[in-house]
Amino acid sequence: MTIGTALTANATRALLLGSGELGKELAISLQRYGVEVIAVDRYQNAPAHQVAHRSYVIDMTDTVAVKKLIAMEQPHFIIPEIEAIATQALAEIEAEGLCTVVPNARAIQLTMNREGIRTLVAEQLNIPTSKYAFAQSFDELQAAVDKGIGYPCFIKPTMSSSGKGQSMVKSADQLRAAWDYAKSSGRVDTGKVIVEAKIDFDFEITLLTIRALNEKGEVQTSFCAPIGHVQENGDYRESWQPQAMTDASLNLSKEIAFKVTDEIGGLGLFGVELFIKGDAVWFSEVSPRPHDTGMVTMVTQRQNEFELHARAILGLPVNAQLHNEGASAVILGGVNATGVRYDGLAEALTVPDTEVRLFGKPEAFLNRRMGVALATAENVKEARFKAVKAAGLVVVKAEL
Ligand SMILES: Nc1ncnc2c1ncn2[C@@H]1O[C@H](COP(=O)(O)OP(=O)(O)O)[C@@H](O)[C@H]1O
Ligand SMILES: [Mg+2]
Repeated sequence: MTIGTALTANATRALLLGSGELGKELAISLQRYGVEVIAVDRYQNAPAHQVAHRSYVIDMTDTVAVKKLIAMEQPHFIIPEIEAIATQALAEIEAEGLCTVVPNARAIQLTMNREGIRTLVAEQLNIPTSKYAFAQSFDELQAAVDKGIGYPCFIKPTMSSSGKGQSMVKSADQLRAAWDYAKSSGRVDTGKVIVEAKIDFDFEITLLTIRALNEKGEVQTSFCAPIGHVQENGDYRESWQPQAMTDASLNLSKEIAFKVTDEIGGLGLFGVELFIKGDAVWFSEVSPRPHDTGMVTMVTQRQNEFELHARAILGLPVNAQLHNEGASAVILGGVNATGVRYDGLAEALTVPDTEVRLFGKPEAFLNRRMGVALATAENVKEARFKAVKAAGLVVVKAEL
């Protein structure tokens, strides 16, 4: 692996499709190796735009627009950060062999639609998942629930993320509203929803799994310590590392994560979401990229998830070892406003062993993630306490 000089003719160029807070950290990690970073999003001044060499605003679901930009920028690596993108364009570009889609175009295609990845994992790899069905009409949905999925269950658009359009249904009278919500709130309306039986788990984890080259040039899979997290309305609020779990459930988790990522292939970091109950493990979903709950690794690992992803992509060796225990807690907008101010940062940082990242998003929404507080401690319990406390001290204010 050789790397050129950024902003010269021989630069190694990486194009990020999606420029949120995860893209911002990845851009910084790539730049530490001298990579030229081009950040793309659907709105101006997205977090990664603010640290990239160049930035663009395009509709990333528009095949023509994506191909045009790629033809102009000629990146060596295309790194999707979000799910809703023109995967057909990526498949064509990969087939031309001129650049690497990270981890590969099929992975992006499979994971952008819940149907693709779920069917592959449950039906071809025979890995345990929640009971599920897909429905294209309310009647189909009702029939699937009546015929075996039962209540409580989750209804989700097949194309969505961060809990958008997702709801939990406890009884028959709530089903219609869940259907309407899923149909109207997905990123892209595929005409289908997935309905999943609720798994009564003890806790859920993200197992960050890295496919990287070892010193012999072979692909080797490594795992970060499991990350525990709390979700509210399908969106993450707190995460911590490591999550305590039995040896049996951790080994099974690694086995599942290995099987899934081995099937997907390519080089990079993956966030494998798993539900755990005692020694039992169910696969939930996988991101072929850094995971929001993995932001905790910015204070817990020597090589955080962005560094690991950057290294894996570039063909460099990785070390997934945990360095110390820690936690993250999100800072939500709490207001709908543009150009907000952040108060209480100094107070937050007086909580010992904490760090705060503000993403610089131009617009705040009530439940939009605007920043994250990170804390380290002797143990996870204390770290969670500190992270939540620090996050709560940061106040987002609408500019008057
Ligand atoms: N079948 C299920 N059983 C129990 N909890 C679930 C189930 N599906 C989703 N959840 C809860 O909702 C969260 C978000 O669901 P997920 O499928 O990961 O959506 P997203 O793609 O928006 O992250 C999960 O992390 C979990 O807490
Ligand atoms: Mg998820």
